[in-house]
Amino acid sequence: MTLDMLPQSRTRFDDWAQTLLDAPLARDGDAPSLQRQLHTRLRMAILGGRLLPGSRLPGTRALAQSLGISRNTVTSAYEQLAAEGFLHPDRQGTKVAALSRPATPARKAHAPVAADRVTRLQRSRPRGDSTAALRPGIPALSHFPLAAWRRTLDRTLRHAGPATLGYGAPAGEPALRASIARHLAIARGVRCEADQVIITEGAQEALSLCVRLLSNPGDTAWIEEPGYRGARAAMHGGDLRILPMRVDADGIVATREDWRTQPPRLVYATPSHQYPAGAVLTIARRLALIDAARTHGAWIIEDDYDSEFRHAGEPIVAMQGLVEDAPVLYVGTFSKTMFPALRLGFIVLPQALMVDMAQPLSELLRGGHRHEQLALAEFIESGQFARHLGRMRRLYRERQLGLREALGLHLDVPHEILGGHSGLHLTVRLPAAYPDERIATDARQHGMAPDPLSGFAMCRGVEDNGLVLGYGNTSAELFEPLVRRLSQVAREATGT
Ligand SMILES: Cc1ncc(COP(=O)(O)O)c(C=O)c1O
Repeated sequence: MTLDMLPQSRTRFDDWAQTLLDAPLARDGDAPSLQRQLHTRLRMAILGGRLLPGSRLPGTRALAQSLGISRNTVTSAYEQLAAEGFLHPDRQGTKVAALSRPATPARKAHAPVAADRVTRLQRSRPRGDSTAALRPGIPALSHFPLAAWRRTLDRTLRHAGPATLGYGAPAGEPALRASIARHLAIARGVRCEADQVIITEGAQEALSLCVRLLSNPGDTAWIEEPGYRGARAAMHGGDLRILPMRVDADGIVATREDWRTQPPRLVYATPSHQYPAGAVLTIARRLALIDAARTHGAWIIEDDYDSEFRHAGEPIVAMQGLVEDAPVLYVGTFSKTMFPALRLGFIVLPQALMVDMAQPLSELLRGGHRHEQLALAEFIESGQFARHLGRMRRLYRERQLGLREALGLHLDVPHEILGGHSGLHLTVRLPAAYPDERIATDARQHGMAPDPLSGFAMCRGVEDNGLVLGYGNTSAELFEPLVRRLSQVAREATGT
């Protein structure tokens, strides 16, 4: 029954009003105000089709009497519904406005569905808890100088005028962009001016931005195999055709034939410390990649996520600075050097893109997180960042050596440690008889969250079976018991 006709008799009118409202209005102390309740019920009756467009509502006095509420309450509810466009007052009273209502199942309708790419963005395993032992990618959270950071943030907020509460420059705070440019020149050999540095919400937004700025749907993107899932997600987000390119002990393998037959628009690589297999891209391959990218008009996205922490030999400079005007977008993050919740990262744009990208970037970005950015600039300029990095470098070196030793002594199954001379994780390859997914799942029962290596590969090969073990956020004294336990879990997974 629709309630679009006002009944004539008084009792029938009262029934009509109650049915219209579904149930009596609630009057206990916790209930929303009578005006809000009446407004909501009338809106639901209109959207649900029980009050049809053009039907006339009772006068405010009559409805108020019928419901036992004040006339003001009814008038205010009517006025609000009129302001929202649900009701239309005219000289004779109040009518329901003509609306196109959402389709009900009775009307022919197409259910809205998610985009196709959503299925490609699904993850097969849940992520481990950030604080679980051996979880990759997490820095030493309890070693972060929280008090010093709080003081820097406090100082920034104290000196911040009301103007810093506004959006800010789309590409980020000039002070932070300048600090990053100076730091990268010294620490990573990156060649850039401050205006080439674009602040992003971590490396993930940086990768998505590179995809949006430099590729069209259907373009080909090469990513390392096995490789970083975040990069794959960014490429899927841009509807790219993703080609997994194998990595070996010297990093990503890209032959002349590959360039001839499947030339990419984008190449994603982690040259300084391949994620997760640990290789360092050789200088010969770096130069060849830059050269081929130039020839084919491709862009290289260099993700330099953890190379501030090099544990052996000399620091390896970034590809970006290797030759003048390299076709490289250098991506960095403060997730490892500071902490992941900060969500600050950056892209260094090549000079050649600066003119074309300035306007699109100001359309796509809104600045924001200004006080964190200003505090981070001060943290870098005051030397606190460099001191923190120095301390963490020593800590991670110790942890890396400790984990290597524990694996050698207590991982009682055949295994091979891959690279791993920098960063926060070690990857161990296991024979196929030790199924990595099963081991990683069972390890969760023991408070550990290693990642299965196979989860990083798009086309899994036998060599992609293993475990990625994060040591960044796990104390060295725990390695022996943890590795003993992991060894037992691995043996049980094979039934031996
Ligand atoms: C290869 C790689 N790139 C980037 C990141 C950092 O991403 P974000 O800055 O979005 O936290 C990670 C984190 O684990 C990573 O492993």
